[in-house]
Amino acid sequence: MTRRIVRMAGDGIGPEIMTAAGRVLDAAAEKFRLDLSFQDCLFGGVAVDETGTPFPADTESACKAADAVLLGAVGGPQYDSLPPEQRPEKGLLAMRKALGVYANIRPVRNIPALAGRTAFRDGHLDGVDIVVIRELTGGIYFGAKDRGDDWATDECRYTTSEIERIVRRAGDMARQRKGRVTSVDKSNVLMTSKLWREVTTRVMAEEYPDVTLDHMLVDAMAMKLISSPADFDVIVTENMFGDILTDEASMLVGSIGVLPSASMGDDGPGVFEPIHGSAPDIAGQGKANPIGMIASIAMMLETGLGEPETAAAITAAIDAAIEAGDVTGDLGGALSTDAAADAIARRV
Ligand code: NAD
Ligand code: IPM
Ligand code: MN
Repeated sequence: MTRRIVRMAGDGIGPEIMTAAGRVLDAAAEKFRLDLSFQDCLFGGVAVDETGTPFPADTESACKAADAVLLGAVGGPQYDSLPPEQRPEKGLLAMRKALGVYANIRPVRNIPALAGRTAFRDGHLDGVDIVVIRELTGGIYFGAKDRGDDWATDECRYTTSEIERIVRRAGDMARQRKGRVTSVDKSNVLMTSKLWREVTTRVMAEEYPDVTLDHMLVDAMAMKLISSPADFDVIVTENMFGDILTDEASMLVGSIGVLPSASMGDDGPGVFEPIHGSAPDIAGQGKANPIGMIASIAMMLETGLGEPETAAAITAAIDAAIEAGDVTGDLGGALSTDAAADAIARRV
Protein backbone atom coordinates (compact mmCIF):
# COMPACT_ATOMS: atom_id res chain seq x y z
CA MET A 1 0.00 0.00 0.00
CA THR A 2 1.38 3.39 -1.00
CA ARG A 3 1.60 5.91 1.83
CA ARG A 4 1.02 9.49 0.67
CA ILE A 5 3.24 12.16 2.17
CA VAL A 6 2.61 15.85 1.65
CA ARG A 7 5.77 17.96 1.84
CA MET A 8 5.57 21.65 2.60
CA ALA A 9 9.11 23.04 2.53
CA GLY A 10 8.09 26.63 3.31
CA ASP A 11 10.51 29.51 3.63
CA GLY A 12 14.06 30.43 4.60
CA ILE A 13 16.01 27.28 5.43
CA GLY A 14 12.82 25.20 4.99
CA PRO A 15 13.56 24.13 1.40
CA GLU A 16 17.23 23.44 2.23
CA ILE A 17 16.48 21.08 5.11
CA MET A 18 13.53 19.45 3.33
CA THR A 19 15.63 18.59 0.27
CA ALA A 20 18.59 17.37 2.31
CA ALA A 21 16.45 15.33 4.70
CA GLY A 22 14.57 13.86 1.74
CA ARG A 23 17.70 11.97 0.77
CA VAL A 24 17.76 10.28 4.17
CA LEU A 25 14.13 9.27 3.75
CA ASP A 26 14.87 7.98 0.23
CA ALA A 27 17.73 5.86 1.58
CA ALA A 28 15.58 4.50 4.41
CA ALA A 29 12.62 3.81 2.13
CA GLU A 30 14.85 1.88 -0.26
CA LYS A 31 16.48 -0.17 2.48
CA PHE A 32 13.22 -1.02 4.24
CA ARG A 33 11.21 -1.29 1.00
CA LEU A 34 8.64 1.32 1.95
CA ASP A 35 6.18 2.37 -0.70
CA LEU A 36 5.90 6.15 -0.35
CA SER A 37 4.56 8.84 -2.65
CA PHE A 38 5.29 12.54 -2.30
CA GLN A 39 3.34 15.64 -3.14
CA ASP A 40 4.99 19.05 -2.72
CA CYS A 41 2.57 21.80 -1.69
CA LEU A 42 2.79 25.56 -1.36
CA PHE A 43 2.67 26.76 2.22
CA GLY A 44 3.79 29.83 4.17
CA GLY A 45 5.44 32.87 2.63
CA VAL A 46 6.12 31.15 -0.67
CA ALA A 47 2.37 30.43 -0.90
CA VAL A 48 1.62 34.09 -0.16
CA ASP A 49 3.96 35.07 -3.00
CA GLU A 50 2.32 32.70 -5.48
CA THR A 51 -1.33 32.71 -4.41
CA GLY A 52 -1.85 35.58 -1.95
CA THR A 53 -2.60 33.29 0.97
CA PRO A 54 -0.31 31.25 3.28
CA PHE A 55 -2.48 28.09 3.41
CA PRO A 56 -4.16 27.70 0.01
CA ALA A 57 -7.25 25.51 -0.33
CA ASP A 58 -5.36 23.08 -2.59
CA THR A 59 -2.73 22.59 0.08
CA GLU A 60 -5.40 22.06 2.72
CA SER A 61 -7.18 19.37 0.73
CA ALA A 62 -3.88 17.64 -0.10
CA CYS A 63 -2.97 17.59 3.62
CA LYS A 64 -6.34 16.17 4.60
CA ALA A 65 -6.01 13.37 2.03
CA ALA A 66 -2.44 12.50 3.07
CA ASP A 67 -1.15 9.84 5.46
CA ALA A 68 1.39 12.28 6.90
CA VAL A 69 2.52 15.86 6.42
CA LEU A 70 6.14 16.99 6.52
CA LEU A 71 6.80 20.67 7.14
CA GLY A 72 10.07 22.64 6.95
CA ALA A 73 9.51 26.10 8.41
CA VAL A 74 7.70 29.28 7.47
CA GLY A 75 8.13 33.02 7.86
CA GLY A 76 10.69 35.68 7.17
CA PRO A 77 11.28 39.40 7.49
CA GLN A 78 9.81 40.12 4.05
CA TYR A 79 6.42 38.97 5.35
CA ASP A 80 6.49 40.68 8.74
CA SER A 81 4.58 43.76 7.58
CA LEU A 82 1.75 41.84 5.88
CA PRO A 83 -1.75 42.10 7.35
CA PRO A 84 -2.18 39.46 10.10
CA GLU A 85 -4.39 37.18 7.96
CA GLN A 86 -1.72 36.86 5.27
CA ARG A 87 1.25 36.18 7.51
CA PRO A 88 2.92 32.78 7.03
CA GLU A 89 2.59 32.13 10.77
CA LYS A 90 -1.18 32.58 10.46
CA GLY A 91 -1.17 29.85 7.82
CA LEU A 92 0.71 27.60 10.22
CA LEU A 93 -1.91 28.09 12.92
CA ALA A 94 -4.73 27.61 10.40
CA MET A 95 -3.14 24.37 9.17
CA ARG A 96 -2.80 22.98 12.72
CA LYS A 97 -6.43 23.86 13.43
CA ALA A 98 -7.73 22.48 10.13
CA LEU A 99 -5.97 19.14 10.70
CA GLY A 100 -6.97 19.06 14.37
CA VAL A 101 -3.43 18.29 15.51
CA TYR A 102 -3.82 19.42 19.10
CA ALA A 103 -0.95 17.46 20.64
CA ASN A 104 2.56 18.64 19.78
CA ILE A 105 5.11 16.10 21.00
CA ARG A 106 8.62 17.50 21.43
CA PRO A 107 11.24 15.05 22.73
CA VAL A 108 14.38 16.48 24.34
CA ARG A 109 17.04 13.82 24.81
CA ASN A 110 20.60 14.51 25.86
CA ILE A 111 23.04 13.31 23.22
CA PRO A 112 26.28 12.47 25.07
CA ALA A 113 28.51 13.33 22.09
CA LEU A 114 27.08 16.87 22.16
CA ALA A 115 27.20 17.49 25.91
CA GLY A 116 30.54 19.29 25.53
CA ARG A 117 28.91 21.72 23.07
CA THR A 118 26.33 22.87 25.61
CA ALA A 119 26.69 25.59 28.22
CA PHE A 120 26.50 22.98 31.00
CA ARG A 121 29.23 21.44 33.07
CA ASP A 122 30.24 17.79 32.86
CA GLY A 123 27.60 15.37 34.08
CA HIS A 124 24.84 17.97 34.45
CA LEU A 125 22.95 16.58 31.46
CA ASP A 126 23.38 12.91 32.29
CA GLY A 127 20.04 11.15 32.04
CA VAL A 128 18.15 14.07 30.51
CA ASP A 129 15.24 12.51 28.64
CA ILE A 130 12.14 14.68 28.49
CA VAL A 131 9.05 14.73 26.32
CA VAL A 132 7.16 17.99 26.24
CA ILE A 133 3.51 17.61 25.27
CA ARG A 134 2.49 21.04 24.09
CA GLU A 135 -1.20 21.88 23.53
CA LEU A 136 -1.25 23.18 19.95
CA THR A 137 -4.70 24.34 18.84
CA GLY A 138 -5.95 26.45 21.74
CA GLY A 139 -4.97 29.18 24.15
CA ILE A 140 -3.81 32.70 23.43
CA TYR A 141 -2.71 31.90 19.86
CA PHE A 142 -6.29 31.25 18.83
CA GLY A 143 -8.31 33.68 20.98
CA ALA A 144 -9.89 36.89 19.72
CA LYS A 145 -7.34 39.55 18.84
CA ASP A 146 -8.00 43.23 18.50
CA ARG A 147 -6.25 46.52 18.58
CA GLY A 148 -6.98 50.20 18.64
CA ASP A 149 -4.64 53.17 18.39
CA ASP A 150 -3.30 52.84 21.90
CA TRP A 151 -4.38 49.38 23.02
CA ALA A 152 -4.27 45.75 21.91
CA THR A 153 -5.77 42.56 23.23
CA ASP A 154 -5.23 38.79 22.84
CA GLU A 155 -7.79 36.55 24.46
CA CYS A 156 -6.60 33.33 26.09
CA ARG A 157 -9.29 30.68 26.28
CA TYR A 158 -9.29 26.97 27.10
CA THR A 159 -12.20 24.57 27.48
CA THR A 160 -12.32 21.59 29.80
CA SER A 161 -12.38 19.13 26.92
CA GLU A 162 -9.33 20.72 25.28
CA ILE A 163 -7.42 20.25 28.51
CA GLU A 164 -8.71 16.72 29.12
CA ARG A 165 -7.55 15.41 25.77
CA ILE A 166 -4.03 16.81 26.03
CA VAL A 167 -3.67 15.57 29.61
CA ARG A 168 -4.64 12.07 28.43
CA ARG A 169 -1.87 12.27 25.84
CA ALA A 170 0.58 13.09 28.62
CA GLY A 171 -0.73 10.28 30.84
CA ASP A 172 -0.47 7.76 27.99
CA MET A 173 3.06 8.93 27.18
CA ALA A 174 4.15 8.71 30.84
CA ARG A 175 2.92 5.10 31.03
CA GLN A 176 5.37 4.18 28.26
CA ARG A 177 8.17 6.02 30.05
CA LYS A 178 9.06 6.72 33.68
CA GLY A 179 5.50 7.27 34.83
CA ARG A 180 5.81 10.93 35.78
CA VAL A 181 3.94 13.98 34.49
CA THR A 182 4.76 17.58 35.36
CA SER A 183 1.98 19.98 34.41
CA VAL A 184 3.09 23.57 33.86
CA ASP A 185 0.79 26.55 34.29
CA LYS A 186 0.50 30.04 35.79
CA SER A 187 -2.41 29.26 38.10
CA ASN A 188 -1.37 31.94 40.57
CA VAL A 189 -2.48 34.55 38.03
CA LEU A 190 -4.37 33.16 35.03
CA MET A 191 -7.95 31.89 35.03
CA THR A 192 -7.16 29.50 32.15
CA SER A 193 -4.34 28.07 34.27
CA LYS A 194 -6.65 27.54 37.24
CA LEU A 195 -8.93 25.50 35.00
CA TRP A 196 -5.87 23.73 33.55
CA ARG A 197 -4.70 22.68 37.02
CA GLU A 198 -8.17 21.55 38.16
CA VAL A 199 -8.80 19.46 35.07
CA THR A 200 -5.29 17.99 35.06
CA THR A 201 -5.60 16.97 38.71
CA ARG A 202 -8.98 15.31 38.15
CA VAL A 203 -8.13 13.46 34.91
CA MET A 204 -4.86 12.14 36.30
CA ALA A 205 -6.46 11.01 39.57
CA GLU A 206 -9.40 9.31 37.87
CA GLU A 207 -7.75 7.84 34.80
CA TYR A 208 -4.01 7.64 35.56
CA PRO A 209 -3.69 6.80 39.26
CA ASP A 210 -0.52 4.85 38.41
CA VAL A 211 1.19 8.00 37.04
CA THR A 212 2.80 10.54 39.38
CA LEU A 213 1.58 14.09 38.78
CA ASP A 214 3.30 17.31 39.86
CA HIS A 215 2.35 20.89 39.10
CA MET A 216 4.82 23.68 38.52
CA LEU A 217 4.43 27.37 37.74
CA VAL A 218 5.93 28.27 34.38
CA ASP A 219 8.45 30.77 35.75
CA ALA A 220 9.83 28.18 38.15
CA MET A 221 9.89 25.62 35.34
CA ALA A 222 11.99 27.95 33.20
CA MET A 223 14.53 27.83 36.02
CA LYS A 224 14.26 24.12 36.88
CA LEU A 225 14.73 23.08 33.26
CA ILE A 226 18.22 24.53 33.55
CA SER A 227 19.02 23.67 37.18
CA SER A 228 17.71 20.08 37.27
CA PRO A 229 16.73 18.92 33.79
CA ALA A 230 17.22 15.23 34.60
CA ASP A 231 14.33 15.39 37.10
CA PHE A 232 11.66 15.56 34.40
CA ASP A 233 9.92 12.87 32.38
CA VAL A 234 6.77 14.12 30.63
CA ILE A 235 5.93 17.83 30.75
CA VAL A 236 2.45 18.89 29.67
CA THR A 237 1.56 22.51 29.14
CA GLU A 238 -0.47 25.03 27.19
CA ASN A 239 0.36 26.33 23.75
CA MET A 240 2.51 29.40 24.44
CA PHE A 241 4.34 28.05 27.48
CA GLY A 242 5.21 24.92 25.51
CA ASP A 243 6.53 26.98 22.62
CA ILE A 244 8.86 28.97 24.85
CA LEU A 245 10.01 26.14 27.11
CA THR A 246 10.99 23.91 24.18
CA ASP A 247 13.24 26.52 22.56
CA GLU A 248 14.83 26.83 26.00
CA ALA A 249 15.08 23.04 26.32
CA SER A 250 16.92 22.81 22.99
CA MET A 251 19.92 24.25 24.78
CA LEU A 252 20.05 21.05 26.86
CA VAL A 253 20.88 19.23 23.65
CA GLY A 254 23.20 21.74 22.02
CA SER A 255 21.33 23.36 19.13
CA ILE A 256 17.76 24.19 18.25
CA GLY A 257 18.61 22.67 14.89
CA VAL A 258 18.32 19.11 16.21
CA LEU A 259 14.90 19.04 17.90
CA PRO A 260 12.01 17.36 16.06
CA SER A 261 8.29 17.35 16.70
CA ALA A 262 5.16 15.40 15.91
CA SER A 263 1.74 17.04 15.97
CA MET A 264 -1.12 14.60 16.33
CA GLY A 265 -4.89 14.68 16.49
CA ASP A 266 -7.32 11.87 17.26
CA ASP A 267 -7.46 10.85 13.60
CA GLY A 268 -6.18 12.09 10.26
CA PRO A 269 -2.56 12.73 9.33
CA GLY A 270 0.05 13.92 11.77
CA VAL A 271 2.31 16.89 10.99
CA PHE A 272 6.04 16.40 11.45
CA GLU A 273 8.37 19.39 11.65
CA PRO A 274 11.50 20.57 13.41
CA ILE A 275 10.80 22.96 16.28
CA HIS A 276 12.96 25.74 14.84
CA GLY A 277 11.87 28.44 12.42
CA SER A 278 12.98 29.56 8.98
CA ALA A 279 16.27 31.00 10.31
CA PRO A 280 16.50 33.90 7.86
CA ASP A 281 19.92 34.81 9.30
CA ILE A 282 21.49 31.67 7.79
CA ALA A 283 19.12 30.91 4.89
CA GLY A 284 20.72 30.18 1.53
CA GLN A 285 24.18 29.59 2.99
CA GLY A 286 24.14 25.82 3.41
CA LYS A 287 24.61 26.22 7.17
CA ALA A 288 21.28 24.89 8.41
CA ASN A 289 21.40 21.75 10.50
CA PRO A 290 19.13 19.15 8.84
CA ILE A 291 18.92 16.90 11.93
CA GLY A 292 15.71 18.43 13.32
CA MET A 293 14.02 17.72 9.98
CA ILE A 294 15.51 14.23 9.71
CA ALA A 295 14.52 13.36 13.28
CA SER A 296 11.01 14.63 12.45
CA ILE A 297 10.96 12.16 9.57
CA ALA A 298 11.87 9.44 12.08
CA MET A 299 8.93 10.56 14.24
CA MET A 300 6.69 10.42 11.16
CA LEU A 301 7.78 6.85 10.44
CA GLU A 302 7.30 5.73 14.03
CA THR A 303 4.25 7.67 15.18
CA GLY A 304 2.49 8.49 11.93
CA LEU A 305 3.16 5.55 9.62
CA GLY A 306 3.80 2.66 12.00
CA GLU A 307 7.32 1.90 10.77
CA PRO A 308 9.32 1.83 14.02
CA GLU A 309 12.16 -0.24 12.56
CA THR A 310 12.87 2.30 9.84
CA ALA A 311 12.58 5.12 12.37
CA ALA A 312 15.10 3.40 14.66
CA ALA A 313 17.55 3.00 11.77
CA ILE A 314 17.36 6.73 11.04
CA THR A 315 17.80 7.63 14.71
CA ALA A 316 20.83 5.34 14.96
CA ALA A 317 22.29 6.92 11.81
CA ILE A 318 21.81 10.41 13.28
CA ASP A 319 23.57 9.36 16.48
CA ALA A 320 26.44 7.76 14.53
CA ALA A 321 26.95 10.86 12.37
CA ILE A 322 26.98 13.06 15.47
CA GLU A 323 29.40 10.70 17.19
CA ALA A 324 31.73 10.95 14.18
CA GLY A 325 31.52 14.75 14.14
CA ASP A 326 29.93 14.73 10.67
CA VAL A 327 27.71 17.70 11.51
CA THR A 328 27.03 21.35 10.70
CA GLY A 329 28.64 24.39 12.31
CA ASP A 330 26.01 24.87 15.04
CA LEU A 331 27.26 21.55 16.46
CA GLY A 332 30.93 22.39 15.95
CA GLY A 333 31.29 20.53 12.67
CA ALA A 334 32.34 21.78 9.27
CA LEU A 335 29.76 20.15 7.01
CA SER A 336 27.15 21.83 4.85
CA THR A 337 23.45 21.03 5.20
CA ASP A 338 23.65 18.61 2.28
CA ALA A 339 26.85 16.93 3.43
CA ALA A 340 25.50 16.50 6.98
CA ALA A 341 22.35 14.86 5.61
CA ASP A 342 24.38 12.62 3.31
CA ALA A 343 26.51 11.57 6.28
CA ILE A 344 23.29 10.32 7.88
CA ALA A 345 21.81 8.84 4.69
CA ARG A 346 24.83 6.62 4.09
CA ARG A 347 24.67 5.31 7.67
CA VAL A 348 21.00 4.30 7.47
P1 NAD B 1 14.48 30.50 14.31
O1 NAD B 1 14.18 29.22 15.03
O2 NAD B 1 14.20 30.53 12.85
O3 NAD B 1 16.01 30.88 14.56
C1 NAD B 1 16.54 31.14 15.86
C2 NAD B 1 18.05 30.96 15.83
O4 NAD B 1 18.35 29.57 15.67
C3 NAD B 1 18.72 31.66 14.64
O5 NAD B 1 19.97 32.16 15.04
C4 NAD B 1 18.90 30.55 13.62
O6 NAD B 1 19.99 30.73 12.74
C5 NAD B 1 19.12 29.33 14.52
N1 NAD B 1 18.62 28.12 13.87
C6 NAD B 1 17.31 27.77 13.67
N2 NAD B 1 17.24 26.61 13.02
C7 NAD B 1 18.49 26.20 12.78
C8 NAD B 1 19.05 25.06 12.12
N3 NAD B 1 18.30 24.09 11.57
N4 NAD B 1 20.41 24.95 12.07
C9 NAD B 1 21.20 25.89 12.62
N5 NAD B 1 20.72 27.00 13.26
C10 NAD B 1 19.38 27.15 13.33
O7 NAD B 1 13.64 31.64 15.07
P2 NAD B 1 13.44 33.20 14.69
O8 NAD B 1 14.67 33.72 14.07
O9 NAD B 1 12.89 33.80 15.88
O10 NAD B 1 12.30 33.16 13.60
C11 NAD B 1 12.52 33.29 12.19
C12 NAD B 1 11.20 33.13 11.45
O11 NAD B 1 10.74 31.79 11.59
C13 NAD B 1 10.08 34.02 11.96
O12 NAD B 1 9.36 34.47 10.84
C14 NAD B 1 9.23 33.10 12.81
O13 NAD B 1 7.89 33.49 12.88
C15 NAD B 1 9.38 31.81 12.04
N6 NAD B 1 9.18 30.57 12.83
C16 NAD B 1 8.55 29.55 12.19
C17 NAD B 1 8.41 28.33 12.81
C18 NAD B 1 7.76 27.22 12.07
O14 NAD B 1 7.62 27.26 10.87
N7 NAD B 1 7.33 26.16 12.73
C19 NAD B 1 8.95 28.15 14.08
C20 NAD B 1 9.59 29.21 14.72
C21 NAD B 1 9.72 30.43 14.05
C1 IPM C 1 6.70 26.89 16.47
C2 IPM C 1 6.66 28.35 16.08
C3 IPM C 1 5.22 28.80 15.88
C4 IPM C 1 4.51 28.62 17.21
C5 IPM C 1 5.03 30.24 15.36
C6 IPM C 1 5.83 30.50 14.12
C7 IPM C 1 3.58 30.54 15.13
O1 IPM C 1 7.32 29.15 17.01
O2 IPM C 1 6.21 26.05 15.69
O3 IPM C 1 7.24 26.57 17.53
O4 IPM C 1 4.67 29.44 18.12
O5 IPM C 1 3.79 27.63 17.34
MN1 MN D 1 8.45 28.00 18.46
